[in-house]
Amino acid sequence: MSKTAKLEIDNNIYEFPIIEGTEKELGIDIKTLRGVTGGVTTIDPGYKNTGSCESAITFLDGEKGILRYRGYSIEELAEKADFLEVAYLLIFGELPTAIQLAKFDKDIKEESHVDEDMKKILDGFPKSAHPMGVLSSLTSALIAFNPGSVDVDSEEEMYNAIVKILAKFPVLAAWTMRKRKSLPLDYGDNSLGYVENLHKMMFARPNKAYEANKLINDALDKLLILHADHEQNCSTSTVRIVGSSHAGLFASLSAGISALWGPLHGGANQAVIEMLEAIKADGGDTAKYIEKAKDKNDPFRLMGFGHRVYKNFDPRAKIIKQSAEEILGDMGVEDPVLDIAKGLAKVALEDEYFVKRKLYPNVDFYSGIIYRALGIPTEMFTVMFALGRLPGWIAQWREMRLRKEPIGRPRQIYTGENYRDFVKVENR
Ligand code: CMC
Repeated sequence: MSKTAKLEIDNNIYEFPIIEGTEKELGIDIKTLRGVTGGVTTIDPGYKNTGSCESAITFLDGEKGILRYRGYSIEELAEKADFLEVAYLLIFGELPTAIQLAKFDKDIKEESHVDEDMKKILDGFPKSAHPMGVLSSLTSALIAFNPGSVDVDSEEEMYNAIVKILAKFPVLAAWTMRKRKSLPLDYGDNSLGYVENLHKMMFARPNKAYEANKLINDALDKLLILHADHEQNCSTSTVRIVGSSHAGLFASLSAGISALWGPLHGGANQAVIEMLEAIKADGGDTAKYIEKAKDKNDPFRLMGFGHRVYKNFDPRAKIIKQSAEEILGDMGVEDPVLDIAKGLAKVALEDEYFVKRKLYPNVDFYSGIIYRALGIPTEMFTVMFALGRLPGWIAQWREMRLRKEPIGRPRQIYTGENYRDFVKVENR
């Protein structure tokens, strides 16, 4: 017999079905709540207890530290797959065959040019502009160069829009960095793989032949995979909710980039390195910063620590920590902030404040150390996150549109003034 939940309000009992997911997660289906109760709503700031959708893309168990894309473990994908395969898996639901992957790669390459007039828009930004703001604006500007809405009932139109953005997004991301560094824009090289080409577009010098580096490529590939989806987080929910108004894919993504930018979300990777640098400059006294993080009168938070869902460990952080040590070792880079990070994590993981609140290093805690070793500037870290998250956002947007989800529109409980008469300005 299917499970139900009972709710009692003023001696009236209402019954609601309980939905069970494929991993046995339970959710009370309150779709009929307002109708049957005459307008009673639920209040859940930050949606800590609210499921906004059913989704078949990513499963995560915060207690056990499990993360899977379409059923495949993040550990196995990070080790054995490449980013483009993972992108295909997330978006279309299955790992591609060799033929499907080759076609996907070819179709993306076909679309990898960006209209020359986009450069004028990039030119308008001051060099000091943060790359995330520029990227969000350029993604939105792409709409002007690719007008016409996507008929989501057409597999072909949907596929074309997806391939287009997967192709052009790395170009735009790389350009935001080149603009800051006063380097001429690079158009990439379609003979390279997706991630290699991204690296070329970011780092190639105008007067020097680009040399691909397997170590760097593998490190980037892994980081992008680890960031590729994370179910209904802030930016993904933004993409879904913007898309639910039937705004286009690029518009939804542009909003997602803005949501990701904040330091409590993807912006944490930049904030972590800035924090570690500040601790280093302050003599490396980690205990002092742990105390600051615990002090409720101090706004300081330990960046890269804590997660809404993970309450045991973040499996991505575990992989990234190990990768950071390996990559720095392989590259012969010694970064003192890695030691500060490890010291900080050790103290925090034994401290009652962090233990009680189940605060562990998250995906952003060690990723910046790798980005730095690869020569990526700090203000580009969140752009790297966006590059990784792109397939996840696309997959979630596609799923939302194919499921014909209704427009996202939460309710509220009004706590303002009751009715009052207007008072003319001279009488106030
Ligand atoms: N440092 C110190 N205290 C913390 C931290 C932290 N980083 N994170 C949470 N807490 C405390 C918080 O003050 C609260 O304490 P109390 O119960 O005494 O009021 C308790 O832990 C629960 O925190 P919360 O803010 O209610 O938890 P949340 O689920 O709303 O927030 C979070 C999750 C990730 C926003 C938060 O842990 C945080 O601000 N972390 C630092 C920023 C960060 O690293 N963000 C990246 C997240 S992972 C990647 C991504 O999402 O993009």
